[in-house]
Amino acid sequence: MTESQAIHRTVLLTEAAREVSRAHSGIFIDATFGRGGHSRAVLARIAPDARLIAFDRDPEAIEAAKSIEDPRFCIVHAPFSRMKETLGAMGVERVNGILMDIGVSSPQIDEAGRGFSFRMDGPLDMRMDTSCGETAAGWLAQASEADITRVLRDYGEERFAYRIARAICKARSETPITRTAQLADLIAQTVPRNKHDASQHPATRSFQAIRIEVNGELEELKKALAASAELLAPGGVLAVISFHSLEDRIVKRFLDAGAHPEKTVDARIALPADAFAPALWTGLQRIKPTEAECMENPRARSAVLRTAVRTEAPFAGEVGK
Ligand SMILES: C[S@@+](CC[C@H](N)C(=O)[O-])C[C@H]1O[C@@H](n2cnc3c(N)ncnc32)[C@H](O)[C@@H]1O
Repeated sequence: MTESQAIHRTVLLTEAAREVSRAHSGIFIDATFGRGGHSRAVLARIAPDARLIAFDRDPEAIEAAKSIEDPRFCIVHAPFSRMKETLGAMGVERVNGILMDIGVSSPQIDEAGRGFSFRMDGPLDMRMDTSCGETAAGWLAQASEADITRVLRDYGEERFAYRIARAICKARSETPITRTAQLADLIAQTVPRNKHDASQHPATRSFQAIRIEVNGELEELKKALAASAELLAPGGVLAVISFHSLEDRIVKRFLDAGAHPEKTVDARIALPADAFAPALWTGLQRIKPTEAECMENPRARSAVLRTAVRTEAPFAGEVGK
């Protein structure tokens, strides 16, 4: 099996495809093609004259997309933060549904050569887009101790962020850190095992944090949410699946602020109802995978799907950022 055919078990397949393709006709976006589980399910639901435009920043996902021969489908190699500009260049100004299944795909995690996994030795890469950008090894070689501490603390919620950052800076002054196993061993020697969950590797949080930094994941998400509010036609659905609380918090705040502009102002300040921008979103839903799905695919356990329907209100920018 080639890498582009490697398996990814799509999470919340039916729920996400059903919600995003509610309009049935028009133009739909799968912002995170991966191995195309959601794309195929959306194609099965939308009208014969509808279109599905998919994005991914990973060249292996783009290769995998070539197996879809449906004339309604096309794939674009670009980060989803550039969705609006990229679609604009294709002559697309409005769309009827946008799906984002954020994070990494199983083939990215499972291939040692991609450098995402602390369980297998490989080059310390972690880039989703292997055609550009700085690798995790490159970032670790030049980031300051303060920056490493901040990333591990803010993106990994790592209690021992400073201790790990100090150990990394000391180790790299002797030998460059270029392999996943080298970094995982260094962290394991630096911090105690999680008392509450002995099965969790001590490097779990640090690897997550460095991956988020290397790929600019939270900035990507914030830009894509703002672009979605601009791109979606009234009645169009935004559906976002996230796998950890940092991402889910960003999605939740963005949608809540857009759905309830009055809540973004201190309630003690009495303002007339028309002083607030009209709501951008309605019909907010939070959907979790069923117990059966979690039993079958443990990766689903942390997933949350949030959906919202775009109203007719114009987007003024910055809401819920
Ligand atoms: C969880 S997988 C998606 C799986 C897909 N829904 C499926 O059913 O096969 C996430 C995918 O999104 C891509 N991705 C993550 N962040 C991205 C970004 N900012 N821009 C474009 N693609 C991104 C990753 O490369 C990965 O292939």
